[in-house]
Amino acid sequence: MPHYGDYQNAIYFAGLSGIVPEWPVDHAGLRARAEAHWPAAVRDYVQGGCGDEATQDGNAAAFDHWGMTPRMMVDTSARDLATTLFGHRLPSPLFMAPIGINGICTDDGHGDLAAARASNVTGVPFCASTLANDPLEDVRAACGAAPALFQLYTPREPDVAASLVARAEAAGYAAIVVTLDTWVTGWRPRDLNTGNFPQLRGAVLANYFTDPAFRALLARPPEEDRQAAIMTWAATFGRVLTWNDMTWLRSLTSLPIILKGICHPDDARRAIDAGADGIYVSNHGGRQANGGVAAIDHLPAVVEAVAGRVPVLFDSGVRSGTDMVKAIALGADLVGLGRPYCYGLALGGAEGCAHVLKCVLAEADLLMAVNGWPTLAAVRAAGAIRT
Ligand code: FNR
Repeated sequence: MPHYGDYQNAIYFAGLSGIVPEWPVDHAGLRARAEAHWPAAVRDYVQGGCGDEATQDGNAAAFDHWGMTPRMMVDTSARDLATTLFGHRLPSPLFMAPIGINGICTDDGHGDLAAARASNVTGVPFCASTLANDPLEDVRAACGAAPALFQLYTPREPDVAASLVARAEAAGYAAIVVTLDTWVTGWRPRDLNTGNFPQLRGAVLANYFTDPAFRALLARPPEEDRQAAIMTWAATFGRVLTWNDMTWLRSLTSLPIILKGICHPDDARRAIDAGADGIYVSNHGGRQANGGVAAIDHLPAVVEAVAGRVPVLFDSGVRSGTDMVKAIALGADLVGLGRPYCYGLALGGAEGCAHVLKCVLAEADLLMAVNGWPTLAAVRAAGAIRT
């Protein structure tokens, strides 16, 4: 039975012929290489966070104060990381979080397609952002047989929101992820210092510019007056959502709706009462609000409030397979990788991205093998303690 950990053997055996991995396998090495590769504006946009970035840094650091206890004399020679989401079989609980700048993370400007191809190769589901350089239909097609999610930044114009959701449903996405924390952009000093906001320069707006409802807002199409189209995008980007909007959101689609950005257990309960099909614990990687508790520290209370009624997705600060396993141990059903896969996109497009996903999965799989947990259920049963 093949295992994700086999990636390690492939690397060691290649090493016997003097071949070393083209890209680093460790997070720090990947990050350093990607930072050196990107133009400064892309680097700062991806790496930057809100305020002094204390929440952003704290998200990753907080994994260190959760620890797991191994069990011995367990046969873990066969491991099974497979799970399901809304009836779709997934090979593992790992997914790619929505990153609305993937498009310019690769040198060719088609990073969304590269991430989708990495999903196709690895089976790791891709959550495609509304902000993309290629239309959501093309991105979905590039995911192949792997299930994909569509993340909605809800436009102020209801017709545009409805159109984007209808397109996602028609294209075959498995669920709509509605991001709740980003109707306005958080205070990001790295980008402010250089006056750089990529969308205002026309980046990653393909879903809007190809959308009939968005185009109906324009006097002239984006191909003729790009600047006016960009300004219309800026004026209509972010709808302030309240619980009252759930009925409307529900009316737009028969797909499951996952609410992203939930950190408080009361919000999780309320979301389920309002009809949410999934809860996504995230603080947007610390990009939107500073001063927050690390996202992983919110997870246990939200999991308790959800009580197994709907799937719990998690991201923010996941840097390794070990972090992935800790999030499972703390109750997440699916774990989202964020910035690290962008580093893979930067260094090697779809292949580089797939390499990063394989490294995370290999580390997770080998950790489960060593620690006596052959299944995700065993990881959950073992749990993690705050050290
Ligand atoms: C994001 N994130 C994000 N979230 C979302 O719902 N829609 C989006 O378009 C984006 N765009 C985006 C761009 C960049 C450059 C980053 C780094 C992040 C947030 C993302 O889904 C996820 O919550 C964070 O990336 C998690 O934090 P870490 O683990 O990447 O630090």
